[in-house]
Amino acid sequence: MNVDVLLGLQWGDEGKGKIVDYLADRYDIVARFQGGPNAGHTLHFDGKKFVLHTIPSGIFREGIINLIGNGVVIYPITLKDELNKISEAGVDYSRNLLVARKAHLITPTHRMLDAASELAKGKDKIGSTLRGIGPTYMDRTGRNGLRVGDLSLPDFEGKYEQLKQKHLSLLSALPKIDFDLETEEKAWFESLEALRAITPVDGEYFINKSIRNGKRILAEGAQGSMLDVDYGTYPFVTSSNTVTAGVCTGLGVAPKHIGEVIGITKAYCTRVGSGPFPSELNDEVGERLRAEGGEFGATTGRPRRCGWIDLPQLKYTIMLNGVTQLVMTKIDVLDHFEEIQAAVAYEIDGEVTDEVPYDLAMPGLNPIWKSYEGWNTSLEGIKIFGDLPKNVKDYVNELERELNVPITMVSNGPDRTQLVERATLGGISEKILHH
Ligand code: GDP
Ligand code: IMO
Ligand code: MG
Repeated sequence: MNVDVLLGLQWGDEGKGKIVDYLADRYDIVARFQGGPNAGHTLHFDGKKFVLHTIPSGIFREGIINLIGNGVVIYPITLKDELNKISEAGVDYSRNLLVARKAHLITPTHRMLDAASELAKGKDKIGSTLRGIGPTYMDRTGRNGLRVGDLSLPDFEGKYEQLKQKHLSLLSALPKIDFDLETEEKAWFESLEALRAITPVDGEYFINKSIRNGKRILAEGAQGSMLDVDYGTYPFVTSSNTVTAGVCTGLGVAPKHIGEVIGITKAYCTRVGSGPFPSELNDEVGERLRAEGGEFGATTGRPRRCGWIDLPQLKYTIMLNGVTQLVMTKIDVLDHFEEIQAAVAYEIDGEVTDEVPYDLAMPGLNPIWKSYEGWNTSLEGIKIFGDLPKNVKDYVNELERELNVPITMVSNGPDRTQLVERATLGGISEKILHH
């Protein structure tokens, strides 16, 4: 059985958590393959709301194994907090949560380095979530990192201390930041107990044996493809590969075992943090999208930048990921807009293109817009594609044609139950249903 992949096609926060939670009962295993507590994946069901940062979004489904994969970076304090919350909600994670031994640990001094390097960048700052992600991945590639498996080494504390000393010397060359290292370190060491309580596995063997045994596996992405370290809007990106290729390195899955690739896009577009965003609206329409969509970060609470959907950008990330089906979320946010727009191409110094240029921030790049009529009615409660107002169907069908990938699901609210699955598409969603 192949590994299906679900990931964000924009700049993150596309609604991955909701869709993974919805789809999880069709799978045996849900595995996060990259990112860390920079992610905030929101789940709504039975009148409750949870925000997950490290734990895969299949955790609330009975009988499913959730794996924190090799490519993930873990801050034990955040993880402990998440574990407490899911425990209170009745999840027995001793039965359904595993952690890969090769996953790297974020330490308090990684967080300090993140904050100090952002401060040093001044107005050029990335707008990092300051969760220590960049410095931890740097230590991974620099071959200095601490991994989950190291927790059982007799000299774990010595290794920690060595890394901390290296970080302190790096910090001495950076601007001073306000950080109570002693208190944070105490909490960090205490929280290791919670991490030790999760069953560790050799993630690559676990996944490959599961593939061989016919288990249905869903790989859950964090962030979005435009934040990919190689193909995103560098340097305004995160420090991991958020695209499908990241599943191979992050879980130890060979490319031939990648199955369906489910790409998620909002019906519009958002970005949090710095960096180019051609279809951003710095006007009252953007403000309205933020208000109607509740566009404030699930991890940091920062207001998200808002704009219309961007088709060249989506074509680019569909290409990079090999997307086989699309999910469009937050369509209900557009319920009361008279007019909806999409960037259908870019004009760059008089030339029209539907490709993403090397520098998306270049002056002289302007989106070419297309307008769609709004539907001016609530989509609440609609479960069947045919029951959607004509203007919604026209919008969805036209985007599908433009993007040349079937839109198999349209999400019309934050709750697990608020979703329209299209049965009309030659059984593509049935393939996920029954494979
Ligand atoms: P993720 O990081 O991709 O999991 O997305 P986030 O959880 O950061 O942000 C998505 C936000 O939109 C969350 O508050 C979700 O509860 C909410 N959401 C997801 N799908 C829908 C939808 O179809 N309609 C509405 N109105 N909200 C949604
Ligand atoms: P989910 O999984 C949206 C953004 C940050 C910043 C840049 C680098 O919830 O979609 P980092 O902390 O990784 O150094 O930040 O990436 N960013 C996200 N934006 N959703 C996320 O995750 C993000 N994770 C990181 O805002 O611009
Ligand atoms: Mg999020």
